[in-house]
Amino acid sequence: MSRARLVRGAPLALVLGGWLVGQAFVNHLTQGGALPVATPERARADGADRNAECERCHQAEAQAWRSSRHREAFSNAEFQRAYAVEPASFCRDCHAPESASFASAENDALGVGCITCHQAGEAVISSQRHGLERGLPAHRLERNAEFGGSGACRACHEFSFGDDARREQPLLMQRTASEHAASGATQSCADCHMQGGSHAFASTRDPSAHQRAVEVEATALGASGLRLTLRTRDVGHSYPTGDLFRRVRVVAEAVGPDFQVRSRREVFLQRWFEDQPDRDGRPIRSEVSDTRLQPGVPSVIDFDFAQTNESRSIHWSVRLERVLHVKDHQEAAATIADEVVLAEGAL
Ligand code: HEC
Ligand code: HEC
Ligand code: HEC
Ligand code: HEC
Ligand code: HEC
Repeated sequence: MSRARLVRGAPLALVLGGWLVGQAFVNHLTQGGALPVATPERARADGADRNAECERCHQAEAQAWRSSRHREAFSNAEFQRAYAVEPASFCRDCHAPESASFASAENDALGVGCITCHQAGEAVISSQRHGLERGLPAHRLERNAEFGGSGACRACHEFSFGDDARREQPLLMQRTASEHAASGATQSCADCHMQGGSHAFASTRDPSAHQRAVEVEATALGASGLRLTLRTRDVGHSYPTGDLFRRVRVVAEAVGPDFQVRSRREVFLQRWFEDQPDRDGRPIRSEVSDTRLQPGVPSVIDFDFAQTNESRSIHWSVRLERVLHVKDHQEAAATIADEVVLAEGAL
């Protein structure tokens, strides 16, 4: 199952509100600015120059942004590998939106830029949180409370496979915003991912942040078994979220007195897909279950090694895996781009 097979069909038709262009502003400050969208229409030819202006005046934000996955959304190695396999023009809608209508190396290099998130016509959009204690902005400013909530993120972090017409229900390829709404979390995306206003969005690439986010409790189950109980901590959506090829691999191994592995078991926590008939009876990739961690719901995984002779101890590990390619029905054979050991131990 390649991304190419999953993303077949028409380009994503994301109708997420119009981009306000050329609106007349009376004051510097207006309520209700337009939220970011994942459509090319709003891109502008002078994107890179405009972005450089933002960077010149807002140096702290610019420095953090330059180190972020948003800045690297088009240039990073994982994206480039996937894009080489499936160079669809709509990939730029989210990975290099400023290049979506005005393709250029300069605009590609912006990835998700200042102007991608903040530009509302000739004005800049911001959340409600900040006063003007630091002085009057050097530009028109629109405030929209949704911008401090998931509204600034939803257009790119929630989208369907683009083949809604063939399905009874649209199937979402990423659905972090819906997961967030269902999680009961009171914090917004920015509360957790932009702590202190940081534009580095750094925690997701920090192994210790992931280790903190998943709590694992190991207990004996009878004489020859192991129970792992996994819980999320301060995560405002499913874990893992985002790209549909992220998963958690749980491994348990019965080890003999000679320290050789006698038996090995693996469980994958992920979204599971199968071909099922579409509206016209033709096979279409469908989601049959989702075994990822959910906030507030412990995931209990039992391993029984009663059949394994001479086992002395059970070693276990829990890993986050960022998968590049999957093979149907052969979870263990997937190509892994990157992994984080969340917890491990022995019983
Ligand atoms: C992925 C979207 C995104 C990108 C890219 C982005 N911002 Fe932001 N920015 C936000 C959000 C969301 C907030 C509001 C956070 C909040 O309310 O807590 C914000 C807040 C700000 C603020 C107000 C900070 C404060 O503490 O008052 C400034 C200034 C700012 N951004 C400038 C920039 C500049 C300059 C760039 C590019 C170097 C940039 N932003 C890139 C989403 C983004
Ligand atoms: C000539 C300097 C200058 C340029 C260019 C500039 N800004 Fe600003 N901006 C300011 C000043 C000054 C303020 C008000 C003080 C503050 O909030 O830092 C401000 C305020 C803001 C805020 C609001 C912070 C709040 O109170 O919520 C955001 C967001 C923002 N700018 C983003 C941008 C973006 C995005 C660009 C590029 C399109 C940009 N700015 C270009 C000087 C500039
Ligand atoms: C214009 C589209 C767009 C918008 C708007 C956007 N993002 Fe992203 N975001 C992306 C893309 C594309 C990536 C993937 C970059 C890559 O290839 O690793 C990403 C990556 C991330 C990551 C890093 C994930 C990782 O794998 O390490 C986080 C965290 C994130 N975004 C959070 C947010 C939040 C929070 C907001 C809203 C404040 C937001 N994004 C708004 C497109 C967007
Ligand atoms: C209550 C806090 C919280 C909220 C709210 C939250 N997140 Fe996260 N998110 C986390 C934690 C914790 C992780 C795990 C890695 C880390 O610590 O950054 C994570 C991981 C991610 C990842 C990386 C994929 C992965 O699972 O490793 C993305 C992308 C992301 N979040 C986007 C979002 C977006 C978009 C929103 C809003 C719709 C959001 N998050 C809301 C805490 C939160
Ligand atoms: C509607 C927005 C959108 C479109 C269109 C889109 N992506 Fe993404 N993509 C994202 C977001 C958001 C993330 C970050 C989620 C995360 O980190 O978990 C992401 C993550 C990825 C990743 C994982 C990168 C990493 O950090 O490991 C790859 C690879 C990728 N996309 C490839 C593609 C390709 C190839 C296309 C076109 C066929 C495409 N994407 C189209 C929004 C989009």
